[in-house]
Amino acid sequence: MLETIYEQTINKLIKAGIASPRLEARLLISYVLGTVPDEVGVQTIVPDNLLEKLDNCVQKRVDGMPIDKILGHKEFYKYDFIVSKDVLSPRPDTEILLETALRILQLSGGKYVLELGVGSGCVLSSVLKEIVDIQCVGVDISTKALSITRQNMQRLGVENRGNLLCKDWFDDDFVECLNREFDMIVSNPPYIKTGDIQSLDTEVQKYDPLLALDGGEDGLKHYTRIAKIAPTLLCAGGYVLLEIGFGQAADVKQIFEKAGLKHSKTVRDLSGIERVLVFEKC
Ligand SMILES: C[S@@+](CC[C@H](N)C(=O)[O-])C[C@H]1O[C@@H](n2cnc3c(N)ncnc32)[C@H](O)[C@@H]1O
Repeated sequence: MLETIYEQTINKLIKAGIASPRLEARLLISYVLGTVPDEVGVQTIVPDNLLEKLDNCVQKRVDGMPIDKILGHKEFYKYDFIVSKDVLSPRPDTEILLETALRILQLSGGKYVLELGVGSGCVLSSVLKEIVDIQCVGVDISTKALSITRQNMQRLGVENRGNLLCKDWFDDDFVECLNREFDMIVSNPPYIKTGDIQSLDTEVQKYDPLLALDGGEDGLKHYTRIAKIAPTLLCAGGYVLLEIGFGQAADVKQIFEKAGLKHSKTVRDLSGIERVLVFEKC
């Protein structure tokens, strides 16, 4: 018996070593057809005029393009975010950063949040959506990333409470430009050592922007800069929340304590890895 399009797609994805071939086949076919994934199965007919589009999408996936970059969106926390080649695909680890920020904001009643490196805007938009009386400023060096942030803020209906600034935080006038103090600074900065980038998975190395990955020779250059500017940007009692990479906790703690901030909490991910550090300006 002839294979259906659904079965053919699954088999191509299995051959390419894709971990969830059935799910991804449904996602790709529904994307091409403009339907929902649950409606796709062996009986699904893909009209001749859409077969080439489906082939292209499957080929991209076989070549290592992440599924969310093909579909143009990704789920993060409770929401769905637009993604493109110009932004880091939101990661489950970053949900820990977000959840820690939400918990602290709810307890402390902080109202002004600065996010350094907004990318897709998944953290900033979720904070604004979850806590209705918060105001945020989001900074990124990439205008293309900020255009995606803006679209995501609009999608969640939170654009009125968030200001976006296109700026390099290494600029001498960075603090001056922001011109206010914040109750919280949250950041998932680039933290991969430059020399390790070429050994990352293809999905990351080729399809996430270098600007979102490269943490300099030791992976710590952005933490060092953030530690330098944070004390001036924070109100007394304000918090800095940072996502960190594997094995960076001790170095990042040292950098921030040297800058005069007190380490108050470490949050581990599900594998037990130290993933989020919290510091306080006493
Ligand atoms: C790891 S991504 C985080 C994106 C998003 N917050 C998330 O967690 O998915 C870091 C972001 O920092 C931005 N960035 C890198 N260097 C920067 C700099 N010197 N000044 C401002 N933004 C920078 C990148 O463009 C990127 O969007």
